[in-house]
Amino acid sequence: MDPLNNMIARHYSRGSLGPTLLAALDERAGLPLGTLIEQLGAVDEFHVGGRAATQALADAMKLRPGQNILDIGCGLGGTARLLATRHNVRVTGIDLTAEYVEVGNNMNARLGLSGQIELVCGNALALPFAARGFDAATMLHVGMNIANKSALFGGIARTLKPGGKLAVYDIMRTGEGALSYPVPWASEASMSFVEARPFYRSALEAAGFAVYGEADRRELALTFLATVKARTGTAPALGLPLLMGDDAAQKLTNLSTQIEAGLIAPVQILAYLP
Ligand SMILES: C[S@@+](CC[C@H](N)C(=O)[O-])C[C@H]1O[C@@H](n2cnc3c(N)ncnc32)[C@H](O)[C@@H]1O
Repeated sequence: MDPLNNMIARHYSRGSLGPTLLAALDERAGLPLGTLIEQLGAVDEFHVGGRAATQALADAMKLRPGQNILDIGCGLGGTARLLATRHNVRVTGIDLTAEYVEVGNNMNARLGLSGQIELVCGNALALPFAARGFDAATMLHVGMNIANKSALFGGIARTLKPGGKLAVYDIMRTGEGALSYPVPWASEASMSFVEARPFYRSALEAAGFAVYGEADRRELALTFLATVKARTGTAPALGLPLLMGDDAAQKLTNLSTQIEAGLIAPVQILAYLP
C-alpha cells in the first residue's frame, strides 16, 4: 500500500472494533434482524446523517430486488447490510481499512448475511472486479480521502453495466477558507481532498456519467451532529465516537463548526451511464 493510503487506513483503524461489535451483537441475540440492523446503524454508518441518509440515497436510486450493487469505501458494511436487508439486493463492498473489512464480514456471518454480502479489502482506485458486472454503485463519505476523482469515477464506470447508476454522498466544499483538522475523515490536511460540486460533476462527466440529481444535506447534517455531540462522553455502547478514537469530540466539533460556517456540507449526487 502506498504511504498516503497507509496513513488513511491507520487513521480509520482502531484495533478494538471486533470484540466490541461482536459483544454488542451477543447482547442483542434474539432480536429480529431488522431491529439489529437499525441499532447497528448508530456505529456502522460512518457518515453524516447515518442510516437516514443511506435510506434517502437508496430510495432515490430506485433499486430493484436481485440487483448487484458495489459499495465503494464500504467501511464496516452498514450501508451494505441496509441495502441487502431492506432492498433485497446483493452487495459487494470494498475498503482500504483491513480492520473494517474483517469485522464487517464477521458481523455478516453472525447475522446470516454472508451469502448476500461480501466485503473485500482493496483500493477504490484499483477495483479488482470484472467490467460491467454491477447494476449500481454507492459511495458514502469516501471521496474526501481520494484526490484523483476522475480516476475514481472512471474505475467505477468500468464495473457498471450500461445504464448503471452511481450514488455519491460526500462532504463537499460549499465556501472559501482553510479547513481545520482533525475531522472524522482526516487527522491532517495531507489526507483530505474535499472538493466542490462542480469538481465532482466534471469528474463524473469525464468518466462518462450523466448527473441527474443533486441535493445539499446541510440541514440534516446540523440536526444529526447536534444529536451525536450531545451523546459524546455519555459513553453509549454503540455510536460514531467508537470509530474516531481519543479525539472524537474534536473531530465532531470541527466538522459541525465548519458546516455551520458554510465551508463544507454533505451533498448527494446521482448519476448514471447513458
Ligand atoms: C468515513 S468512512 C465511510 C465508510 C462507509 N462508506 C460508511 O458510510 O459507513 C470512509 C471510508 O473510506 C475508506 N477509504 C478511503 N480511501 C479509500 C480508498 N482509496 N479505497 C477504498 N476505501 C477507501 C476508508 O477506509 C473508510 O472506511
